[in-house]
Amino acid sequence: MNEQVAIQTPPPPLTDPGTIDYIHTGPGTLAGTYLRLFWQPIYVSRKLEAGRAVPLTIMNQKLALYRSQDGKVHCVENRCAHRGALLSTGWVEGDVIRCPFHGWAFGPDGQCVHQPLEAAGYAKNIRIGGYPTREYLGLVFAYLGEGEPPEFPTYPEWENAKFVSAQIDTRPCNWFQNVENFQDEGHVFFTHRRSAFEDLDLTQIPKIKTEKTPWGLSQTSLFPDGRRRATLFGMPNIGMFAVHPDNIKRQGEERNAEESAWQMFLDYRVPVDDESHLQVHAIAVFIDGEPSEDYKKRWEDFSDAEAEAHEVAAKVLSGELPYDAIAEKCHHVPLAQDEVVQVGQGVIADRRRGIENLGASDTGIVAIRRLYTEELTALAEGRPLRTWERPEGLLPLGGAE
Ligand code: FES
Ligand SMILES: [Fe+2]
Repeated sequence: MNEQVAIQTPPPPLTDPGTIDYIHTGPGTLAGTYLRLFWQPIYVSRKLEAGRAVPLTIMNQKLALYRSQDGKVHCVENRCAHRGALLSTGWVEGDVIRCPFHGWAFGPDGQCVHQPLEAAGYAKNIRIGGYPTREYLGLVFAYLGEGEPPEFPTYPEWENAKFVSAQIDTRPCNWFQNVENFQDEGHVFFTHRRSAFEDLDLTQIPKIKTEKTPWGLSQTSLFPDGRRRATLFGMPNIGMFAVHPDNIKRQGEERNAEESAWQMFLDYRVPVDDESHLQVHAIAVFIDGEPSEDYKKRWEDFSDAEAEAHEVAAKVLSGELPYDAIAEKCHHVPLAQDEVVQVGQGVIADRRRGIENLGASDTGIVAIRRLYTEELTALAEGRPLRTWERPEGLLPLGGAE
């Protein structure tokens, strides 16, 4: 009798996006299903007024996000189940949202609760998507997956910081390019050559070490003179790093003591669609004493610095400005620099072998792709997924001190 031979499938090549697709995240895709297992930040809390709704696209899914008069935030599918009008253009009444077309109203769980032109009893059969939300660190998070949401991960260091600034901006390229950037230590020495990262003394090329952690990965640069710089990557789309405040100013600009505090970034990359994504930042600012109103206001106006960075990045990409103009023209220098290199890779980077040629310095990128390959393969095969938790005290210490 023939014994059955177990056929082992070799692991997919890490550079072949056709094998494991971490690019596409719409409903029903593998990476989209995986990302939907986690709470995702989707909006800045202070920008959502009570009684208002806004339209959002997250992972190719149209959502209406609204805040009821009691201050609670709700998130439903942005399509009226009657004839498809956008619910985000409707009225917020208590905790329901009413369609402006024929008045159907939906509750936070997506249940239709009123149809003014229909007989009673029809509404109970009608339901759209409704998703749990949570506000934390100045951001609105939503759980867009099936079933009960997982425990909400918290970050005590951010809760304890004197001041946390929440910001979101959109970058016009696929999300995974910016996820890879979390562990691309080598780019700092070139992309950010003219920025406050100069403090790192970029003439010294460090040894780069990537290690697994219970949360994802950590990457450490060890410089010949003993300094070290560390960044963390948390699955599935979180980066944590410390930044010197001089990164957020024009070259030559003066800073007062309040503005010289270190900042720690908790960053998320959330797909909007396959060709753009949100960069979400919860920035903990470690200042002495209480922040002044003026200081807080400046952080609130941060979106001006982001608009400026997008504009300059676009001009560099089109050839209108040289790359080094970024350092003189932008307040948020690294933001524009990263945008130029990532958008320059193409809206969706071509990772096929031979077109992309990875080197020994790309260990962080390979490690991220490997984590995704492992997790998405397990998901596709119905095997258990890993749980990712940040151990207490795991922080991106070191830096350009
Ligand atoms: S389309 Fe919304 S009530 Fe008719
Ligand atoms: Fe960068």
